[in-house]
Amino acid sequence: MAEMKTIGVVGGGQMGSGIAQLGVVHGFQVWLLDMDPQALARSADYIAASIRRLVSKRTLSQAEGDDALRSLHCTSSLEELRSSDFVIEAIVESEDVKKKLFCDLDKIVKPSAILASNTSSISITRLASSTTRPRQVIGMHFMNPPPLMKLVEIIRGADTSDETFTITKTLAQRFGKTVICSQDYSGFIVNRILMPMINEAFHTLYTGVATKEDIDAGMKLGTNHPMGPLELADFIGLDVCLSIMRVLQAGFGDSKYGPCPLLVQYVDAGRLGRKRGIGVYDYSKVPEPIKPSARL
Ligand code: NAI
Repeated sequence: MAEMKTIGVVGGGQMGSGIAQLGVVHGFQVWLLDMDPQALARSADYIAASIRRLVSKRTLSQAEGDDALRSLHCTSSLEELRSSDFVIEAIVESEDVKKKLFCDLDKIVKPSAILASNTSSISITRLASSTTRPRQVIGMHFMNPPPLMKLVEIIRGADTSDETFTITKTLAQRFGKTVICSQDYSGFIVNRILMPMINEAFHTLYTGVATKEDIDAGMKLGTNHPMGPLELADFIGLDVCLSIMRVLQAGFGDSKYGPCPLLVQYVDAGRLGRKRGIGVYDYSKVPEPIKPSARL
């Protein structure tokens, strides 16, 4: 592939916004797409505020900040992603919705473009099968929040080429990330281990073993985790956690991955975590949510 200049990011939620920010701050032209105009506007405001904060803290010079802001292009038309060399998808964690998007992207972007998914758990091989370019489809799983977290987990589908892998790894490294590689099995490395722990924390709460505060304090102070599992679930989004448990359950056919009824009930009630102001905890009284823009 010739030098990579333009990145497409699809989905302007918590992950897509952070990924788009990384792109513009590291010198790429970024086309950010969300089908929801309000989400797109929120994302653009959020990225602009983050970049201004980086300038005010002198992490970026004024000129670098201005360049980054000029490099962000927001759109709700998939056609605008036509010039992208590399597209990172960060939409809802649903295999059917992602497959439809990959199929549409495949028809629009140039033949050399790579299509990456930020999926937390869904098979890259199956997403790739909805395109005519399975060698150029890969998993690029950022952690939340992308500007701050050091890790990117790369997942090769059954047909992902060595070239696609190398380009993706180089891009992650240009973003300043450490790369780990996983085979394409449900949940990959991080969520295969993390989500059953979060689900078990819900069971611990559901069966009345302890309060949410004691469960989180137990794991923070007892095992040195920076956040308790219930607090972390609210940060990730309970809908995302539930989707991942369902992917693990379907992928391995093992009842141990069955989502806790309390997690299901919270999602049914719209208690999706911090992004909705309520999840396991009520954030309506918390003044300042965690801001992912503190560093590059
Ligand atoms: P989110 O709910 O904050 O944002 C998703 C965005 O995608 C929304 O703005 C929605 O309007 C948009 N969208 C949905 N369908 C679309 C479509 N067909 N075309 C264009 N835009 C569409 O979700 P979040 O948390 O950013 O997650 C996105 C992806 O990243 C998921 O696959 C998730 O599993 C993964 N992920 C999430 C992490 C987390 O901590 N939340 C961590 C790592 C990966």
